[in-house]
Amino acid sequence: MTRKGIILAGGSGTRLYPITLGLSKQLLPLYDKPMIYYPLSVLMLANIREIAVITTPEDQDQFIRTLGDGSQWGISLTYIVQPRPEGLAQAYLLAEDFLDGAPSAMVLGDNVFFGHGLPELLAEAGAEASGGTVFGYHVADPERYGVIDFDANERARAIVEKPAVPPSNYAVTGLYFLDGEAPDRARGIQPSARGELEITTLLEGYLADGALRVKRMGRGYAWLDTGTHGSLLDAANFVRTLQVRQGLQTGSPDEIAFSHGWIDKSALRDRAKLFTKNDYGAYLLSLAEG
Ligand code: G1P
Repeated sequence: MTRKGIILAGGSGTRLYPITLGLSKQLLPLYDKPMIYYPLSVLMLANIREIAVITTPEDQDQFIRTLGDGSQWGISLTYIVQPRPEGLAQAYLLAEDFLDGAPSAMVLGDNVFFGHGLPELLAEAGAEASGGTVFGYHVADPERYGVIDFDANERARAIVEKPAVPPSNYAVTGLYFLDGEAPDRARGIQPSARGELEITTLLEGYLADGALRVKRMGRGYAWLDTGTHGSLLDAANFVRTLQVRQGLQTGSPDEIAFSHGWIDKSALRDRAKLFTKNDYGAYLLSLAEG
């Protein structure tokens, strides 16, 4: 079955208050594009064209206004509401009908990835027929994340959510390739002390069954944090530095759709016409004319 995508863009973004009092975190600008463009681009790079966007009830309209039905990129976007933020693993229950038994790639709507070789890494994970794949990334502050505990042979033996004493510096990124069993497995897990269905508990189930591949995302990759005011600005500056220096875009669904042949030159030109007043529009136009 063809793998489907999920972007989890719920949550109240309290750490970014007052900015997120009236606006979803995942719609905030990351330099020149809405934050959600970046995780959406990751799913598109993984060749996924059927994607569900999970939002809070209040924010759904704004996401629809921002992303539409996906036809401008030759993909299909479905919107699902998460009534209350009851854990990342709940996404699999909310998306169960949408997935309809298919394997999935879920990305958190505030996770930004960049790196040479990303499409290959995604293709490898996407090609696995069963079980799951997650990515471990070396960070300075692992206590803020799900952290991987490796055994003496460098094999993952546990994943611990926000441990006071982290067993390693490897955080689990917010990108999860899971097989079609994920909704069933999510139904079987118990809520944590904070009352949420934790993604870590779901992953631990796969791990216990020997069905979880933990791949390292090496130092050639950027997995950026957008969780604090400072890190949000740093991430935006990273994107700007890269784009200005290279004259190439990162996190552009328009470019990916065009390069995958999902939209043609005239569709890309139509998109560029929406942005004639800025560099993003000029960039898309140059691709269409190139
Ligand atoms: C969530 C997960 C955590 C993961 C992180 C990645 O944490 O619970 O395991 O490492 O996303 O962004 P949150 O950022 O929702 O606190």
